[in-house]
Amino acid sequence: MAESMKGFHRTHRCTEVSERNIGETITVMGWVQKSRNKGGIIFVDLRDRSGLLQIILEESDCGAENFAKGEKLRSEFVIAVKGEVTARSGAANEALVTGSIEVRAKELRILSEADVPPFPVEEDSKTKEELRLKYRYLDLRRPDLQRNLMLRSRIATLVRQFLTEEGFLEIETPMLTKSTPEGARDYLVPSRVHPGTFYALPQSPQLFKQLLMCSGYDRYFQIVKCFRDEDLRADRQPEFTQIDMELSFVDVEDVLEVNERLLQKLFASVGVEVKLPIARMTWQEAMDRFGSDKPDTRFGMELKNVSDVVKDCGFGVFTNALAAGGSVRGINAKGQAAMPRKKIDALVEFAKGFGAKGLAYLALEEDGTIKSSFAKFMSEEELKALASAMEGEPGDLLFFAADKNKVVYDVLGNLRLEIARNLGLLDKNKYNFLWVTEFPLLEYSEEEGRYVAMHHPFTMPMEEDLPLLDTEPGKVRAKAYDIVLNGSEIGGGSVRIFQSEVQEKMFEVLGFTKESAYERFGFLLNAFKYGVPPHAGLAYGFDRLIMLMAKTDNIRDVIAFPKVKDASCLMTEAPNVVDDKQLEELSICISKQEKI
Ligand code: AMO
Ligand code: AMP
Repeated sequence: MAESMKGFHRTHRCTEVSERNIGETITVMGWVQKSRNKGGIIFVDLRDRSGLLQIILEESDCGAENFAKGEKLRSEFVIAVKGEVTARSGAANEALVTGSIEVRAKELRILSEADVPPFPVEEDSKTKEELRLKYRYLDLRRPDLQRNLMLRSRIATLVRQFLTEEGFLEIETPMLTKSTPEGARDYLVPSRVHPGTFYALPQSPQLFKQLLMCSGYDRYFQIVKCFRDEDLRADRQPEFTQIDMELSFVDVEDVLEVNERLLQKLFASVGVEVKLPIARMTWQEAMDRFGSDKPDTRFGMELKNVSDVVKDCGFGVFTNALAAGGSVRGINAKGQAAMPRKKIDALVEFAKGFGAKGLAYLALEEDGTIKSSFAKFMSEEELKALASAMEGEPGDLLFFAADKNKVVYDVLGNLRLEIARNLGLLDKNKYNFLWVTEFPLLEYSEEEGRYVAMHHPFTMPMEEDLPLLDTEPGKVRAKAYDIVLNGSEIGGGSVRIFQSEVQEKMFEVLGFTKESAYERFGFLLNAFKYGVPPHAGLAYGFDRLIMLMAKTDNIRDVIAFPKVKDASCLMTEAPNVVDDKQLEELSICISKQEKI
């Protein structure tokens, strides 16, 4: 039977009780972490979101009735305890913040009993994540997740504080909006009132924040949910949160400057010093040196272009790739020449997962001999020249990829990371920030047979590249920037086009007719007719930011109620079927349905 709280009023959270309270009578409430009955004395670890506190029940303190209740306690019961704070009788328990004190209960109430939970509520749970997600409300009791969500709340508050002080206004934008192309697939919401039509959930507030600039709200921000129906990965969720911002009368420098100070403030709050200015690298340099537009600069192993060195060699794999307009590049895994064949084979397979047709390697043994998958195709001089171009020394292991540039970058960029992971080179206590700038404006889509915007269609080209829009659109660089932390893209943004001629040109290159552009973005293009300030913005992936601060690799660890890989929620079992009546109201007829 659950008892009431009548006459009880919580005075402290568990870890708010300290030696200063010795001698005082306090009231604490929470969950039983563990209860041990040692005959005449019961030890209870009481848990709330602040941590643990030890309660002691002895009949001489609390009387027979309360002691009898104490004997019934089991894990996850919710209790209230009124008692006196005393110094701990034995040695202090170093594992607990409150380890030097205990509370001698005078009165105990059982507010709620609990079934045996499907898994123990404990830090570093070994329980399978699926089970924990099904019982997410229990999982969320665990201290590690509680710490993450408390961190998330604290950082959101700091963001609001900082941006408000910098003159930003927090303005909400609609969740039910119009489907506009921004890369990913939209989540659609059927309209009951307008049968056959759909709202889209926003992939980002991009167009609305630009409209707010047109309306004169010259500094906007929002901590906002965004929805993208894309394949999930460890750092992607179908609904995620952005710290979104837009500024008027600014250029690239202004956006980067205020954001550097924001990052400095946020990270200072978790004890990480961000030295300003944050390093910058152009997109081209990032690709050439790291094979990635979000380089992890915590370690070296940079890519080297050896195309010139191998252009006349006898290895067809290399020369054919060059003849086809590609390149040959390599990385040097320092001191790894003795890597067992099995591990090398695993890396070759890993590379194939990124489109490599193969992966050539060359081990420079300590004794001066060379072991290589392609030695037989090259002379000794050629091999030596190649090793020297890679700054290879005895003991090093070199890997080479030969293909189209895009494939070579992707393969070696990822291989570099995989080797670093295997060798434990990724130090979670190191925070390397980097701005990646001058992204290409456009990317050619083989699938669509046309250029598509790399960021979005409103991104401003760099002035000096404008003439290239007519001649070599693929070479035009954008006033776009990403903020990268330890190889993770934590944010991105751009300066926007605000001149209608440039915007029209952009649509033309993207293959939109004037009509189709108006059909999709008419409201924005019309707004631009009535006086538009130059503007620019940026959005952070808030979840990713918190992941890095919390030092977790799993985005679900920083979201209260996340979805799994197939975009479902294991706790609510969403998505799910709905009543026929609901479908009828929405004029929706299901043509295909898998059995569930
Ligand atoms: P972008 O598409 O780069 O830019 O998104 C901004 C940041 O949001 C994060 N992010 C995600 N996080 C978790 N799950 C996802 N599925 C996901 N997708 C993106 C990334 C990314 O850097 N409107 C523009 C911003 C602008 O131009 O101002 C935009 O949305 O960390
Ligand atoms: P093969 O002659 O096919 O046995 O290839 C010899 C070596 O070259 C093997 O180690 C292959 O994995 C490697 N290789 C094949 N294609 C490529 C490629 N495109 N880039 C780099 N190495 C490759």
